[in-house]
Amino acid sequence: MRHVVRCALWSAHSVLFHHRKVTNDPSIKWSLETCQTLHRTFFSGSSEKRHSSKGGILFGTTAVTDYAKYGPPYGRDIFKTIIDFCNEKACRFVLAVDVGCGSGRSTVPLAAHFDKVIGVDINPKRIAEAPTDVPNVSFRVGPGEDLSFLEDGSVDLVTAAHSMHRMDVDALYPEVQRVLIPGGSFVSYGYGLVRSDEEVVQKVFDHFYNEILGSFWFGGREEILELYRGFNLPFPGWRRDDSLQAERTWSVDHVIGYLLTSPEWQKYLARNPESNAMEDIRKMLRQVYRSGEPTDAERLVKVRWPVYMLMGHKPLN
Ligand SMILES: C[S@@+](CC[C@H](N)C(=O)[O-])C[C@H]1O[C@@H](n2cnc3c(N)ncnc32)[C@H](O)[C@@H]1O
Repeated sequence: MRHVVRCALWSAHSVLFHHRKVTNDPSIKWSLETCQTLHRTFFSGSSEKRHSSKGGILFGTTAVTDYAKYGPPYGRDIFKTIIDFCNEKACRFVLAVDVGCGSGRSTVPLAAHFDKVIGVDINPKRIAEAPTDVPNVSFRVGPGEDLSFLEDGSVDLVTAAHSMHRMDVDALYPEVQRVLIPGGSFVSYGYGLVRSDEEVVQKVFDHFYNEILGSFWFGGREEILELYRGFNLPFPGWRRDDSLQAERTWSVDHVIGYLLTSPEWQKYLARNPESNAMEDIRKMLRQVYRSGEPTDAERLVKVRWPVYMLMGHKPLN
């Protein structure tokens, strides 16, 4: 049965993919994405399956797998904005490259729109976490600043999702300009620190990011806090879009899982292996989100992230 459903999903995907090539109908593109999402939801080995954890949450050894599970999901609106931006110029939708792709969260959604998508990340561990079952998506280990495996003027879209602050833009920009086709698009996007509208929860986040992780930040903290306002894309007429935000409603444990995936937390923990800081945060959040009565259901936590998008087209000539 499982096999039949899987085949049906991929057959539907193939038919839609070829139809989209002929008609370029945008509604087909979203159907394609739905096929892929269904397939990945039901058939990809989930991070939970591959990653055992006693009691559900690991405090000391969170693996990179958890990033895909707990990271703020990129919504459909982000990819719609990217595709709409590509459509402003004569995009061929042949090849997209996602630099700093991590485990492919930002790469795979592009597969519904482009013939071929390549994810590039400098960290082999992150690439090892990327899916291998999406036919038109491949991944490679390497710096985003070196795209020498690509020919000049061969790429329709380059994306950098929450990764440009980790790169040397003086090397990245010329590479992006070189590989893009005339009229090709570059989109650098990501999200700011997680926020809550509940004052006490926001205080917990502030305490975590400012006081606990304060001195453990990797390069790029300022850029993220400023939502990339310091970056200047090398394309005439480039623009920002700050209209989107990611929102999720999570259990306390899911919020803790998210905080645990922070690479800065891993760095902090390596120096402070006996730390109870995360356990204290968990207790604090539990006090807020449970009444204390064993029969009462846990209240869920609403969290949100501001999304920033920087977008530019390579001039047509
Ligand atoms: C915050 S993660 C974002 C991953 C993915 N784009 C996403 O949004 O889920 C940043 C990624 O950039 C990668 N990275 C850092 N420096 C890089 C470089 N110079 N070239 C390519 N990737 C890099 C890291 O390994 C990491 O996977």
